[in-house]
This record gives sequence, C-alpha cells and structure tokens, in this order.
Amino acid sequence: MKNDSKIPHHIAIIMDGNGRWAEKRGLPRNAGHMEGAKRVSEIVEGCLEIGVEYLSIYAFSKENWRRPREEVTGIMKLTEYFFKHQFRTLRDKGVYFVHLGEKKGLPDFVLRIINEIEKNNVENPKMYLCIGFNYSGRDEIVRACRKMFNQLSRGDISPEDISERTFSNYLDTAGIPDPDLLIRTAGEMRVSNFLLWQIAYSEFWITETLWPDFTVKHLRKAISEYQKRYRKFGGL
Ligand code: FPP
Repeated sequence: MKNDSKIPHHIAIIMDGNGRWAEKRGLPRNAGHMEGAKRVSEIVEGCLEIGVEYLSIYAFSKENWRRPREEVTGIMKLTEYFFKHQFRTLRDKGVYFVHLGEKKGLPDFVLRIINEIEKNNVENPKMYLCIGFNYSGRDEIVRACRKMFNQLSRGDISPEDISERTFSNYLDTAGIPDPDLLIRTAGEMRVSNFLLWQIAYSEFWITETLWPDFTVKHLRKAISEYQKRYRKFGGL
C-alpha cells in the first residue's frame, strides 16, 4: 500500500445495506446478513495484510432488537456460526476478539460461544477484532458511569481522579486507541449510536456500496482517501 506510514491504526465500520442487498435480489433479509458475515472475514484478512491493528465493526445494536423476531433470530444464529466456523481461521492468523456491548440479554447459545472465544484468545495478537454486539454508544457511556460511580461511592477513587483519559478506561474499548477512520456503507450519513465517545476526531468515509458488495478494494480506497486528509484535532 502507498504511504505505509499513514496506515490507520484503528478502523471502525458501520456495516449497512444487508437488507437492501437482499431485497434487490428478491431474497429474505437474512440472506443479506449471511453474505455480510462472509465479507467480515475478508475485510479482517485485508486489514491483516495492510497492517491495520484494530478493526471495530457494528454487528448488532441495542436498537436492533426492535426488528422482526425472525430477523433477530437469524442474526443470532449467524453470529454463532461465524464464531464456530469463520472465526477459527482468523484466530489462527493471530486475530484477537474483543466484545463491545452488554452480555446481559444475549441468548445463552451466543453467550456461550462469545465466552469460549474470549477464553481462548490468541496470546500474541497480530490484530484486534472488536465486534459491537448488543452494543450502543450511549449505553456504553452509561455503563461506564455506573462502574465509575460504584468505585466513587466505595471511596476507591475521588472526583479529581476523573479525566478524559481515566474515563476511557471504563468503556468497553479500554486500552484500545480511538478509531482514526470510520467507514459507513450504503450511503447513510449518520453515526447510529456507534462508538460515540471514541469517534470524537475520527475521519469519516461513506460509500454508497452495500456491505455485502464491500471488498478489500473498497477498504484500500477508504484508506487512501484517509491518507489525503489533514487531521487537525482542533488545532491548526
Ligand atoms: C445492517 O444492514 C446490518 C446489520 C444490522 C447486521 C449486520 C450483521 C452481520 C454482517 C452478520 C453478523 C456478523 C458477525 C461478524 C457477528 P441492514 O439490515 O440495516 O440493511 P438495510 O439498511 O439495507 O436494511
């Protein structure tokens, strides 16, 4: 890749457009999610090749429970399949899994496989794959506050200890640098409650391409657009 020195350390992706991809082909929405899950593995492999250290993807938001039961069940089963089959290959290549979101509320069969993958994570990771599953940004911030207030009320920390840096340690992304680049597929111009705290200074790249049509070529294009940006972080 040209300009290797400016490879983003952390890329976040809002994978949108699975439903539209399926509808365009007269297929059920879950067929779009199935195709989308295949793209996840390809994009993770692309990140490994390019040298991106962290990839965060939004697979299931807290708001997604409002979808029809059949679609929700389909996504849950697909997630179990992803972890049981596709993820093994990624793990063997050095991919470490990080769950973003709340475990409470997930069906037992999903929880079991997530816990198992976390327990057997690689020892010397080449890359971190953070998956937002039962995740929403506001909920993450509220949960972080709750953890912090518990410590405050026990006297383990004092109000003066709270700073932007220490607050970040209560988030699901503790220890992970903020995303440099946020990609959204399927053309929508919104953030949809993903990584609200962490994307304060992320560069956005939005493409009309639907997630099941997204390839490593698109990923490379997003990175090369990112490399042309001048990041000011509020300065000049
Ligand atoms: C958004 O498209 C996509 C989702 C809400 C689900 C994403 C899930 C996967 C890619 C599969 C699970 C993968 C893993 C790795 C756990 P949409 O349905 O909102 O599309 P639309 O806007 O066209 O309807």
